Amino acid sequence: MLHDYFGREFRYLRLSVTDVCNFSCDYCLPDGYQGDSGRKSGGFLRLDEIRNIAAAFAEAGTRKIRITGGEPSVRSDLPEIIAAVKQTPGIEKVVITTNGYKLPERIESWVEAGLDGLNLSIDSLDPSIFQAITGHHRLQELLDGLDRASALGLDSIKVNVVMMRTYNGNQIDQFLAWVKHKPLTLRFIELMQTGDNEEFYQRNHVSGESIKQRLLGEGWKQALRSKDAGPAQEFDHPDYQGRIGLIMPYSKDFCASCNRLRISATGKLHLCLFSEKGIDLRQLLQREDQKDELITYMQTQLNDKEVSHYLQDGNTGGTSHLAMLGG
Ligand code: 5AD
Ligand code: SF4
Repeated sequence: MLHDYFGREFRYLRLSVTDVCNFSCDYCLPDGYQGDSGRKSGGFLRLDEIRNIAAAFAEAGTRKIRITGGEPSVRSDLPEIIAAVKQTPGIEKVVITTNGYKLPERIESWVEAGLDGLNLSIDSLDPSIFQAITGHHRLQELLDGLDRASALGLDSIKVNVVMMRTYNGNQIDQFLAWVKHKPLTLRFIELMQTGDNEEFYQRNHVSGESIKQRLLGEGWKQALRSKDAGPAQEFDHPDYQGRIGLIMPYSKDFCASCNRLRISATGKLHLCLFSEKGIDLRQLLQREDQKDELITYMQTQLNDKEVSHYLQDGNTGGTSHLAMLGG
């Protein structure tokens, strides 16, 4: 099992397959995608490289891989990617984080390829505010896509909501009412500062603590966390079909439960979302028989993983925006 000096074990990989995104969320890519589509770094990971990554992580004990972007669905070979990861011996779950672009017509091919779970970003249930945040008038399409995903029997469906004072700060009631009869997990994520969004962050950051106190005051019960659960805090309520997750990266001890590693779309290992730079793995991804060497190299690098992200001190590392790494 991949592990670090502080005893944390890494059983979960977030694998970015592109940094391109077709949305322009105000906290992430307010001017839309401005990158070079991986050109300077030899292009985005190919299917064979993705297979080799999945095989090495599986051998090192990883059971779950999340495919992220940018927006992963801008890759036309996404169903093949899902299938390749799912078919890797040892990998039990393949899940995806998406902005939901054209979800109703795409979700079926992903489920057929073996997808086990979907995280969809919906920062507002008000169509005009959704458009103001993402640049797209597509809320209804996302909601239809969610219904389609449920109808297809997808195991795990989560909706990510980044909390922002001036956009959705007063919409918690609407979100809670929405999950009263919907069996999905709603995850409120505290806005994180990145290299590019300081002013937006200063204007919009709200702590998740007020939501937590409100939930506890309204009869929600915090679920016990299993030893290998990630950093989200989860809550249940007997009158609600949905669950609530809270992701509070600025809270004390957030990093103590870190259980994940990240690989960028150009094959760089990131020991933390906010590390200075990624560690280039590309040369070790070219042949299946490099698997053991790849694992040994990653474990050596992990010995240097820091105890915390130091985000609370305004350190955003080399992370200009989260489209670089898919959150
Ligand atoms: N802070 C918090 N969440 C963010 N995301 C993107 N950028 C940020 C940020 N600065 C979210 C997206 C998506 C997930 C991958 O990360 O909305 O839900
Ligand atoms: Fe795209 Fe996600 Fe960034 Fe929005 S948050 S611009 S959907 S990568």
